[in-house]
Amino acid sequence: MRHLKTAKHLQEFDPEVSIILAHNMGIFSDLVHFIDTKTDVWVVSWLTLSILVTYTGGLVIYRLFMSPIAQFPGPKLAALTYWTEAYYELLYGEGGQFVFKYREWHEKYGPIIRINPRELHIQDAPYFETFYGSSRPASKLKDLEHRFNNPSSAFATSDHSLHRIRRGALNPFFSKRKISDRVPLIRGHMDELCSRLKREFQGTGRVLVINEMWGCWTTDIIIEYCFERRYNFIRDPDFKAGLVVSLIDLLDGVHWITQFPWMVKAMQLLPDSLVGWLDPRMKNVIDFNKEMLTQVEEALDNAHDKDVKGHRPDTIFTSIIQSDVLRSEVAPVRLQHEAISVVAAGIETTMRALTISVFHIVNNPSIHQRLRE
Ligand code: HEM
Repeated sequence: MRHLKTAKHLQEFDPEVSIILAHNMGIFSDLVHFIDTKTDVWVVSWLTLSILVTYTGGLVIYRLFMSPIAQFPGPKLAALTYWTEAYYELLYGEGGQFVFKYREWHEKYGPIIRINPRELHIQDAPYFETFYGSSRPASKLKDLEHRFNNPSSAFATSDHSLHRIRRGALNPFFSKRKISDRVPLIRGHMDELCSRLKREFQGTGRVLVINEMWGCWTTDIIIEYCFERRYNFIRDPDFKAGLVVSLIDLLDGVHWITQFPWMVKAMQLLPDSLVGWLDPRMKNVIDFNKEMLTQVEEALDNAHDKDVKGHRPDTIFTSIIQSDVLRSEVAPVRLQHEAISVVAAGIETTMRALTISVFHIVNNPSIHQRLRE
């Protein structure tokens, strides 16, 4: 105790002396060191807390009052934090509910609302022409480019000028004439499907899972359109198409990846076998991605070959390969990303639209009757 008093007294007098003393006083030196460390911890804690409080306060003030979109109406909690969106996308009900939630907000706040700290949502269809009618360039959100694990596809490309180039390479295949040219192909698949339904399902009481059937049909068409290759999923005994299952599995994880884009990068660091073991659905996704790479590699090998009649293959991918785009645009991985995008976009959307149409036709006798006539 006496030592302590002495040391304290000396420290008041000359701090350097107390340090020398402390170093020379055995157990006493530990005590002084403890007091110093404790002081340091307090200082660091207070400093950290002050920085956190100042940062959070600044962020709240910025988001609510100073952001360029601060004056737009909408729930304050949504303007304040991305967690509102994350809650409706990941935890509320089955997830993926944000789109329905902000539709409710529109009823309360009007046609243009703020749905998160940096986004507005417009629910006013005629305003589309005004908004996109000008030549003002508009980029897609950069944060969304990894959503479907195909960042260099046209669909995911954020930068306006690069998107224009990539989209330009796809355009010829979405022209009315090109689609019309493919009508015989689409009809052929439909005829085959109808004969099978008559043969195996009509009047048998056997249950037909409509979405799986349309999944097989749309997959066969888009794969033939992209690669001139027939998978013939419509001949599968139970209408089970592995590619469709992979695609649904890919879409299952999308809400999580949209909220936490780093998850994709983290998964890429792990070996495929480990990712597949951690989540068996991801194995299907990996298989789908590999299949797309195989297809584009074959397209790259065969793009300049002619068949016996002297015809070159005429698909989306051979057309991109033969075009005069930069060679980096036809690298296998870039084309793989494009294939994931076009094949997925061609399957899921059409399959769902047809399934929902069948539901409404079957449940609406007047429409059903009119179609039969
Ligand atoms: C009912 C059917 C369909 C619906 C509702 C639909 C809907 C959409 C929507 C909303 C987008 C814009 C996405 C965005 O930029 O965030 C889009 C883009 C796209 N869709 Fe579709 N789609 C359908 C069918 C198809 C089909 C059959 C194909 C291919 C054969 C296709 C290929 C694409 C491609 C490549 C893009 C990206 C275009 C770009 O970024 O410029 N879609 N689709």
